[in-house]
Amino acid sequence: METKVFEVDPLNPDENVLKIAAEVIKNEGLVAFPTETVYGLGADTFREKAVMKIFEVKKRPPDNPLIVHISGLDQLEDVITEFPGIAKKLAEIFWPGPLTMILKRSEKVPDVVCAGLPTVAVRMPSHPVARRLIELSGTPIAAPSANLSGRPSPTSDDHVVKDLFGKVDLILKAGRTPLGLESTIVDVSKHPPTLLRPGPVTVERLKELLPDLQIPDHVYGRSFEGKPLSPGMKYRHYSPVKPLILVENQRKIQKVLEEFEKAIIVCPVEHAERYENRRVVIMGSLENPYSIAHNLFDVLRRVDEEEGTPIVVEGFEERGILFSVMNRLRKAASRIVR
Ligand code: TXA
Ligand code: MG
Repeated sequence: METKVFEVDPLNPDENVLKIAAEVIKNEGLVAFPTETVYGLGADTFREKAVMKIFEVKKRPPDNPLIVHISGLDQLEDVITEFPGIAKKLAEIFWPGPLTMILKRSEKVPDVVCAGLPTVAVRMPSHPVARRLIELSGTPIAAPSANLSGRPSPTSDDHVVKDLFGKVDLILKAGRTPLGLESTIVDVSKHPPTLLRPGPVTVERLKELLPDLQIPDHVYGRSFEGKPLSPGMKYRHYSPVKPLILVENQRKIQKVLEEFEKAIIVCPVEHAERYENRRVVIMGSLENPYSIAHNLFDVLRRVDEEEGTPIVVEGFEERGILFSVMNRLRKAASRIVR
């Protein structure tokens, strides 16, 4: 398939380019576009045929539902049936932004979008390209992350081109995404509210607003039994091709490294000097934890292309955004050393 590729300024995108992309959405095509979290692969939420193409292209299991992206609250009417008080409160504070809410789904939303569930995931992104694309398309855009299923989420236009060129109608290139980590997902369709995926909106902040917030074991990366709450949880995610060893106990790292002469070590800049004469890839700075989230998926892709194996990643203290980083690392890991 021919893929059109356009570069746009992330803060001040060319309206004419976005109009071309909106036409693609209106005509049941697929557009990869930047958001403030990661790139998304979008289709018109209400065109079943278009949404089905997303699953084919990503090789995404059909029981893993998508997030519906809106540009204004007026679009909620066709997507959900109830907007409870706590959802309104969260929307006021965090929308537009990196928070996704699970709400009761309107019958107008096709089954494929929600994998047949009675609920739907909704988010209002803040990225100017995403916002304007949705507005010009005149419809909520259903979009998962724009990576092939199982691969690290795309946080730069290079990642998107690598995974999707030749498979989608149009790619909007806008450099790197600011946050680099997928949105926080909270289920507010029932009581008490439940955190399904930690993200840029931190647990600490959510708990201030929702003191009864439930945090299931799987969010910590511990194993879970029974039916997963979010269908996406049961698949291995974010994985580089090489084995990834996550070392959560800093005292054990030297021992692990003795085992693997050719390991690539991933650590924050402050710890690089601990690993003299070894292959080291820096993942941001502890002084600015958001820099670690920003670099996470790019590093996971890069280490796959560099010489050396396995990937040995230093674990982080689970606070603020680094709690979310640890959730992703545990899902990507083939072995965890505690
Ligand atoms: O930041 C983000 O959220 C990015 C950008 C593109 O918006 N999107 C993203 O989408 O990460 P995706 O498809 O990679 O992750 C969506 C997650 C999946 O784990 C899915 O299972 C869950 O949302 N989800 C969607 N609908 C759901 C529902 N009705 N109930 C529970 N979980 C749901
Ligand atoms: Mg994804």
